[in-house]
Amino acid sequence: MLKRKCYVCRSGIRADILEMPFLVWHRSSMEIPSKKECLRLLGDYQVPRHIRQHCLMVAEVGSTLARELSTAGIRLNRSLVEASCLLHDISKMESVERGGDHALMGAQVLASRGFHEVAEIVRQHVYLDVPVLQAGVCEKTLVNYADKRIKHTKLVSLEERFQDILSRYGTSRERKDRIKALYADCLLMERVIFEVLPFKPGDLANRIVMPHDPTKNTR
Ligand SMILES: [Fe+2]
Repeated sequence: MLKRKCYVCRSGIRADILEMPFLVWHRSSMEIPSKKECLRLLGDYQVPRHIRQHCLMVAEVGSTLARELSTAGIRLNRSLVEASCLLHDISKMESVERGGDHALMGAQVLASRGFHEVAEIVRQHVYLDVPVLQAGVCEKTLVNYADKRIKHTKLVSLEERFQDILSRYGTSRERKDRIKALYADCLLMERVIFEVLPFKPGDLANRIVMPHDPTKNTR
């Protein structure tokens, strides 16, 4: 069978089924787990209930913002935002128990499952790469921002979230400075996200429905 190589992922694709432009075909092959698959993955990796609930709340914020931004004319892959929010802390517990960077560990887990786009977003859910931060609103910025608005399972302001982060992780001058720099980046991100929306960051609570945890009977 004649095959062509995709110039993005280098996979072989049967030439006889290529009726669409090549990049469009490649994009359609993006692997994004459904919500059900995400919840199953959290179970498979024994993510504890309090972290699952945090992830569900982050997903609610991310999905709400993605929906509102789409309505405002910003093109976003809403399934990618939801899946990445749900899975962003898949390795959090493992990093607490054994050490390591939970964003990087989570990205490796998800890439090993073939979810490369989700993995890349999870890798950047704590710190965005500088070019992404400068590029404006995209799936990566939304997931990163949504996580900063949820303290445990509660929707809070960036100020409250960062006060908590500072008190828990600001254990040295260097760490404090890094957290303060991250706070400044997040405030900028918030301004960029909300300048196209018809409501303010403080009004987000009115647009969000508290999610039910469908995994609460499983570990
Ligand atoms: Fe998180």
